Amino acid sequence: MSDVNSRTSNNESIALVVFGVTGDLTRRKLIPAIYQLYKDDQLPQKVKIIGFARRPWTDEIMREYLQQGLSEFSRSQPVDEKIVENLLKSVKYVQSTFEEDQGYKELLNTLVAEEFCGVIYYLATPPNEYQKIIQQLGKNKLNSNKCWSRIVVEKPFGNDLLSASELEKNLHLFFKEDEIFRIDHYLGKETVQNILVFRFANGIFEPLWNNHYIDHVQITVAETIGVGTRAGYFENSGIIRDMFANHLLQLLTLTAMEAPYAFNEDSVRDEKLKVLRSIKPLNKKNAVENTIRAQYGSGTIGENPIQGYKEEPGVNKTSTTETYLVIKLFIDNWRWAGVPFYIRCGKRLPTQATEIVIHFKQIPLSLFEWKNMAGDAPNTLVLRLQPNEGISLTFGAKKPGHENQISPVLMDFCYQDAFGGEPPEAYERLLLDCTMGDATLFTRTDEVIEQWEFTQKILDTWKQAPIEKLPEYKAGSWGPIEADLFIQADGRKWKNPK
Ligand code: BG6
Repeated sequence: MSDVNSRTSNNESIALVVFGVTGDLTRRKLIPAIYQLYKDDQLPQKVKIIGFARRPWTDEIMREYLQQGLSEFSRSQPVDEKIVENLLKSVKYVQSTFEEDQGYKELLNTLVAEEFCGVIYYLATPPNEYQKIIQQLGKNKLNSNKCWSRIVVEKPFGNDLLSASELEKNLHLFFKEDEIFRIDHYLGKETVQNILVFRFANGIFEPLWNNHYIDHVQITVAETIGVGTRAGYFENSGIIRDMFANHLLQLLTLTAMEAPYAFNEDSVRDEKLKVLRSIKPLNKKNAVENTIRAQYGSGTIGENPIQGYKEEPGVNKTSTTETYLVIKLFIDNWRWAGVPFYIRCGKRLPTQATEIVIHFKQIPLSLFEWKNMAGDAPNTLVLRLQPNEGISLTFGAKKPGHENQISPVLMDFCYQDAFGGEPPEAYERLLLDCTMGDATLFTRTDEVIEQWEFTQKILDTWKQAPIEKLPEYKAGSWGPIEADLFIQADGRKWKNPK
């Protein structure tokens, strides 16, 4: 992580150029994050937001759009009108297609005229526009600036190994690796950053964090939302590309990595990369046997009736796109040899929750011939990444009374109780780090490629043996029966978030 000295000085001026400023990401995530940082005095006084998009907007329309976004999505409500006015007074809108030179020339003139120290180009467009924009930035010499220029790319980084490699190649034609900030927003979440703090700022867990003491690990990202209005994208992506190839694999790296030599961008990412490289590839038969795909059918979540995936607008009636996925994988290194990692994610599950559960091994011998109300439940450590953020450890305790009974109990840490308040939004931390030039919490080029190397083999296998109809699970359930049978076959069961 950069130290305080490398923070963007408050005397510097920066321009934030948002490609695709008219989209939802800007309104929901970017502008609220920028506002919060500005309000907390974390950004230079002079921050100019330059929007770049096709719609025939003016500076004024863009300003109003950003203002509305702030009133609706800012985490501190009501917003401070004075600060908003200061932040948005000099916004500029460049109307252009992404392939025409004219827009880029106008952009260059603005940047040159105002002599910004640093410029951030933020690609908030659909991914199929990335290549054009990068090419045009290079062609119009926008990739070098007075002090620094950086480019922010949102996931997905490509749609497969080939397209990801092409994107990386193109990025590196015009930007150096330390100028490229690939956002996987999971890394900006407080609780995700805390995985490393929990592991490496405490002496008591690390000695147990290996195949001697851990039986298996479950990583679950459950969502109640469905595909919504994103069928066009999701149909070609599926949950494997949308969630597994990035967010889930990143959670895996943080859970499994070795201690870095320091908490900085090179050493943290070097260690994460080693995990990705150590995952045992899933090929052909293995890929079929160790993955469970399914699609949500109709059902209810809470009181709400939910339609099935195939009934969603824009979804093909014979679609075989998975909305649920389990992958069992192994990390072939000394620490983890033989420990299965069950990675599970799905849409339209009963609750929204992201959890990492460490299941410790059973005791070698039971000394208590007592009524064991804990059953054969082993100790588990649950990292609740969202919501109800916290960490809990379950263990067996003697239940007070004349009868000899062992009861499962919980040691619980809850962020809200310990620290109060709302944690900052992921985008705040990521944008701040980007202004400081600190890429620790961003995915490095070799990680992207490695994530795809693993995922591509599974995709290839699925493609070679297409299934006509995926197993279905009821919306609001914890997935298909196949997933339960899958883990039961290993003598284990799912620990579902509450
Ligand atoms: C995005 C995916 O990257 O992450 C979405 O494209 C998903 O499909 C979202 O809903 C989940 O993010 P979060 O922060 O709500 O867990």
